[in-house]
Amino acid sequence: MNAADDDDKHDSNDSDNVDITKSSSSASLIPPQIASIIDQTDQFTFSDSDSTTDSRSVTVRLHVDASPGCGGIAWPAGRVLSEYIVRHPDLVSGREIVLELGSGTGLVGLVAAQLGAKTVWITDQQVLLPIMNKNVEMNSLGDNVKVAELNWGEAVPEYLPTRPDVILAADCVYFEPAFPLLVQTLSDLSDSRTEILFCYKKRRKADKRFFTMLKKKFKYVEIPDEPYSDVYTREAISLLRLTKIGTSN
Ligand SMILES: C[S@@+](CC[C@H](N)C(=O)[O-])C[C@H]1O[C@@H](n2cnc3c(N)ncnc32)[C@H](O)[C@@H]1O
Repeated sequence: MNAADDDDKHDSNDSDNVDITKSSSSASLIPPQIASIIDQTDQFTFSDSDSTTDSRSVTVRLHVDASPGCGGIAWPAGRVLSEYIVRHPDLVSGREIVLELGSGTGLVGLVAAQLGAKTVWITDQQVLLPIMNKNVEMNSLGDNVKVAELNWGEAVPEYLPTRPDVILAADCVYFEPAFPLLVQTLSDLSDSRTEILFCYKKRRKADKRFFTMLKKKFKYVEIPDEPYSDVYTREAISLLRLTKIGTSN
């Protein structure tokens, strides 16, 4: 299904300004911090439980700490995207360069590295880099995973690859002022051959504006993922594949 003209899908179940933390906070435009999670360790195992032959599982240990910002914990769309790539490892396995945007803890990128991506860049704002570095170390993935600052909307730093083979982004649509910045960075890093896996949890009616901006530069389609579609719908999660339109930035 081509979702490019299907903005309303991302506008279903609308309850405007649902807070990302599901708390009663009304500060819907301020990225919230979940202050109760401080300096903890978590573990996530994702498995290809449907596989009847070689069952595969990937375990990632994470240092989680919300004090530097909302990215310091693992968000729902990050878990969904992690599990999806575990069930479809060919999307990342053997790929030369995989780059994750808004990695937070680094969860999805760490899973991609465990699945055999050759070099994975996990990127975020400067405050998250210590957590990401710690998580690379905790999972002994320092040979394959590089941590870098990448602020959406700014020029892509020279130390980053300009054309990753795969871009991963999970739970990056939540803060309206950042919508054009995220679209710009996605555009700066990609061309029409770049595989972009984008997992999104709808929280606010305003999220629709992100897709209005996105479709000026990208086509996007919902990735069919049976038998999980009902779960995604219930959780307001969309798993999308983005394709850059043309070659211009
Ligand atoms: C809701 S968290 C999701 C984290 C992670 N992808 C996950 O699924 O667990 C959104 C992430 O986007 C990052 N982010 C927000 N605005 C950003 C910007 N302007 N430049 C770079 N990263 C940004 C945040 O720091 C945070 O780590």
